Amino acid sequence: MPSTHPLRELSLTDLRRRTSIKWREHPDDVLPLWVAEMDVLVAPPVVEALTAAVTSGDTGYPHGNAYAEALADFAAARWGWEGLDSSRTAYAADVMTGIVEAIGLVSGSGDPVVVNPPVYPPFFGYVEHAGRTLVDAPLGEDGRLDLDALEAAFIRAGADGRPVTYLLCNPHNPTAVVHTSDELSAVAALASTYRVRVVVDEIHGPLVPEGFVPYLSVDGTEDAFAVTSASKTWNLAGLKAAVMIAGERAAQDLARLPEVVSHGPSHLGMLAHTVALREGTPWLDDLQADLAENRALLATLLDKHLPDVRWAAGPGTYLAWLDCRELGLGDDPAAAFLEQGRVALNPGPTFGEGGAGHVRLNFATTPEILTEAIERMGRVVPPPTP
Ligand SMILES: Cc1ncc(COP(=O)(O)O)c(C=O)c1O
Repeated sequence: MPSTHPLRELSLTDLRRRTSIKWREHPDDVLPLWVAEMDVLVAPPVVEALTAAVTSGDTGYPHGNAYAEALADFAAARWGWEGLDSSRTAYAADVMTGIVEAIGLVSGSGDPVVVNPPVYPPFFGYVEHAGRTLVDAPLGEDGRLDLDALEAAFIRAGADGRPVTYLLCNPHNPTAVVHTSDELSAVAALASTYRVRVVVDEIHGPLVPEGFVPYLSVDGTEDAFAVTSASKTWNLAGLKAAVMIAGERAAQDLARLPEVVSHGPSHLGMLAHTVALREGTPWLDDLQADLAENRALLATLLDKHLPDVRWAAGPGTYLAWLDCRELGLGDDPAAAFLEQGRVALNPGPTFGEGGAGHVRLNFATTPEILTEAIERMGRVVPPPTP
């Protein structure tokens, strides 16, 4: 099949017609490079399946296990992981709901949940909304897991005998770090030593071109849960559905999941995600190629227009975690980039400890928009006086 360019198909005019949050939150003179939506059309097989469902009136409630089975086949083909047993899965409306439900299976009100800031901001809000207590195990300066900090957090969190849960993000949002199997084995060993239950968010997993290691594929993770979805990879957040996966020993916990949780995902969401996993890999290959080009373009643009920004590019997501501490724009550079540069980014401080002076930039857009955005950002920062 000839390759296509998912990230080269839309113009700014097309995109401005969109009604989702990315394109409507800010006025029209702002270039939106914030929330994790991609500026792509939907993969053709998904369009066909959705069109067929809608035109034939197949718009009722979901049934069956096709989504988990498609995910298991995708995991085997793409990651060489044969161990995803679709009988140990359940469905939730979306990944964050699945995470909260998994946490609910292994802990109670007020119990601690360890997270690794800087991290996807809703981790804080959802954990608090679930009535749990957040415990920070900050990442290292390199944006990777700091295993000593993690161990210290496990000890601190468990000091008064409460059950401890660890919410891991694999790959990590915002640093785009893909955890290695050694790192994940070390996490599993620590979790076992301190009797910590691990819930891992793998929503960006299918996007990783190579080297993604599903947490449950690592030895010693049998009592953990993973929650994932095709939504991020195929840009289907508006078609809600997610899969919760239990390790072998967590299956008995998953069996206690209230039946009503399965009412969350929509039939069209399940259908779209299933088709994406089964038939959307050529489109995904093309997307990954475009993202790789955009990642390289971003590095070149930063060199030229914002040479004092530091960025450790990771392969895990289409999100770039930019260290702007040397720009003199204070703790929240996103405010200056928005007000003066008319570019919307995610403010670093919302990602928790380690977020000050940073912004998160979504480069899943066209090269033209990316170029214009970085040029605008460059103009916000005054050139050094000679
Ligand atoms: C790490 C991570 N988890 C969860 C989500 C949200 O997923 P959902 O809409 O399925 O809850 C996102 C969205 O960008 C994300 O980056």
